[in-house]
Amino acid sequence: MGSLSESYAFVILGASGDLAKKKIYPTLWLLSRDNSIPKNTFFFGYARSDMTVSQVREKCSPYMKVSAEDEASYEDFWRRNFYVRGSYDNKSDFESLDERIGKVGTPRTNRLFYLALPPSVFEGVTSNLKGCCMAKEGWTRVIIEKPFGKDSESSARLSNHLASLFHEDELYRIDHYLGKEMVQNLMLVR
Ligand SMILES: NC(=O)c1ccc[n+]([C@@H]2O[C@H](COP(=O)([O-])OP(=O)(O)OC[C@H]3O[C@@H](n4cnc5c(N)ncnc54)[C@H](OP(=O)(O)O)[C@@H]3O)[C@@H](O)[C@H]2O)c1
Repeated sequence: MGSLSESYAFVILGASGDLAKKKIYPTLWLLSRDNSIPKNTFFFGYARSDMTVSQVREKCSPYMKVSAEDEASYEDFWRRNFYVRGSYDNKSDFESLDERIGKVGTPRTNRLFYLALPPSVFEGVTSNLKGCCMAKEGWTRVIIEKPFGKDSESSARLSNHLASLFHEDELYRIDHYLGKEMVQNLMLVR
C-alpha cells in the first residue's frame, strides 16, 4: 500500500487532549496493527503542552489494546510517532511543524491534519495550516470535529472561512452525534 517514494503524515492537533488519547491514537494504532494504513505513515502530535512522545504514549496507554503478539508492531507504531510543541496562533510554530514533517517524510508526503481542538481555535489553526503546512507535493486533507459553530451564524462563518482556504474535497467534517437519534429510533422499532 503506497509507493516507496511517497509517505504520509497524520498530524493530530491537540495531541495532549482527551479525544486524542481516548479515540485518535487508539484508532491509529489499530489501523496500523491491521496494516490498514500504509507502513510509511508518520504520526505527528502537536499541542502547546510540553510533552515527549513517551509522555503521549503513557497518556494513551489505558486506551490501547495490545496483545502479547502485537508487541513488536506496537513498538514500531510508536517509533513512527513524533511530537511538536507549538501554539495555535503563531505562524512560526506552524513553520516548525512544516519543517519537522519535511525532515521525516519523503519529498512527496501527503498530509492529513486532524483538529482535535476546541472550536475557538479552528479558524486560526486552519489559516496557519494553509499558510505554512500544505503538502509541497501530494495532497493535503483537514479533518474537523463537531461542533461546526454554535448557531447558524457562527456555522456559516466557519464554513465561509474554510471555503476561503480549502477545496471542499480537502475537508472532512466529523459529527458522531449526527444521526444518533435516528439510529436509536431504528433500534426501538426493531
Ligand atoms: N473528547 C471526546 O471524546 C470528544 C468526542 C467527540 C467530539 N469531540 C470534539 O473534539 C474536539 C477536542 O475535544 P477534546 O475533548 O480532546 O478537548 P480538550 O481535551 O479540551 O482539548 C484538546 C486540546 O486542546 C487544547 N486546548 C484546550 N482548551 C483550549 C483553549 N481554550 N484554547 C486553546 N487550546 C485549548 C489543549 O492542548 P494544549 O493546551 O496542550 O495545547 C487540549 O489538550 C472538540 O471539538 C470536541 O467537541 C471530543
